[in-house]
Order: sequence, then C-alpha cells, then structure tokens
Amino acid sequence: MKRVAILISGGGSNMLALLASMNTTPGCMPVLVVSNDPNATGLARAAAQGVPVTAVDHRSFGKDRSGFEAALIAQLSAAKPDILCLAGFMRILTPEFVRVFEGRMLNIHPSLLPKYPGLNTHERALAAGDAEAGCTVHEVTADLDAGPILGQARVPILPDDTADTLSARVLVQEHLLYPMVLHRFATGQKDPIFA
Ligand code: GRF
Repeated sequence: MKRVAILISGGGSNMLALLASMNTTPGCMPVLVVSNDPNATGLARAAAQGVPVTAVDHRSFGKDRSGFEAALIAQLSAAKPDILCLAGFMRILTPEFVRVFEGRMLNIHPSLLPKYPGLNTHERALAAGDAEAGCTVHEVTADLDAGPILGQARVPILPDDTADTLSARVLVQEHLLYPMVLHRFATGQKDPIFA
C-alpha cells in the first residue's frame, strides 16, 4: 500500500480525481492533503472525505522560502508519504526541497511538455496557433516542469477556443491521466503512457 500526500493551492479538482481513484483502485491511500494557502477550498473538500489536511501559509514566511519549505517538509514527513502528488500546487520548489523527495514526487502540468513550461500555457498554445494542446504528468526534478514524462493526454484546439474553453477541455483529461499515472507509478511502471 503506497501512502500518498497531495499538495494543492486552490480548488483541488485534480486532488479530487486522485482521491476518487484511490477509493476504487487498490494500492494507494491518501495520507495528507497540504496547501500553501489555508483558504484553499480543496482543503475542506479533502477533509469532507476524511483525509487528514493541513496548511503551511507561505505568506507568513515572507521571503524566507527555505523556512516555508522546512515547515512544509516537517508536515509532509510526519505523514510518512511514499509518493507526493503536486496537484494545482502553485509554489516553485527549491532544489533542496526536491532533493528530499526526488524520485517519488509527481506533478501535472497543463501543456504537452516540453512545450510551454511555466504559466499561461493555454494562452501560449492559442497564440502559437497550435492544432492541439493537453497535459503532462512528470516526475518533479530541480528543473521546473522538466522532469521525466510519465504520461500525456492530447486535446484538439478548436477555432473558437478561448483559454477558458481550452483549459476546461484539458482539465477533463487531467482528471483521467493523473490517476492512471499515479497507480502505474505506485507499481513501479515508469514507461510513459500517451492517452
Ligand atoms: C490545472 O490546470 C492543473 O493543470 C494545474 O493547476 C490547475 C488547477 O488544478 N496544475 P486543480 O483544479 O487545483 O487540481
């Protein structure tokens, strides 16, 4: 049984998809949902399912990024996770943090990496006139959005798409891809899947 901690910053729709999959697919169990924002609505959604939740407010650390990360590591380590899933987690993690969990930390990014690392991925795909977009689950390494790819899902970009309509279409695929990749990763399968 792999113990899974999930890190969120907002609504946690990917977190909910991961929790639902852990309820139905054996092999993984959620041990903590933690957010950098105590007001993240995903915290209440996780607590409503009986999952332990906590918050480490990055704002109370000001510019002390390592202080924030030390507090985050303390919370995470107490839960003894085997796997960490970043799910809509919007803080950039330092190489020191990554080193503690490297090899067992996943992230979902709303683009077909290596295209469009960073923010505003849908706006950038639209501006580029791309025919398709999608999402990527990858291992987290010290290089932002650049770790080994574990899975990707593609969607078409339609002529009248806006960033909102495209992100909604991609989000549907995120909710399918992330659980599939988590359960594969939990059983040691690291060859990428392309949905
Ligand atoms: C999603 O686009 C996801 O790809 C990105 O954050 C956005 C919100 O995710 N990582 P969630 O709804 O909070 O899971």
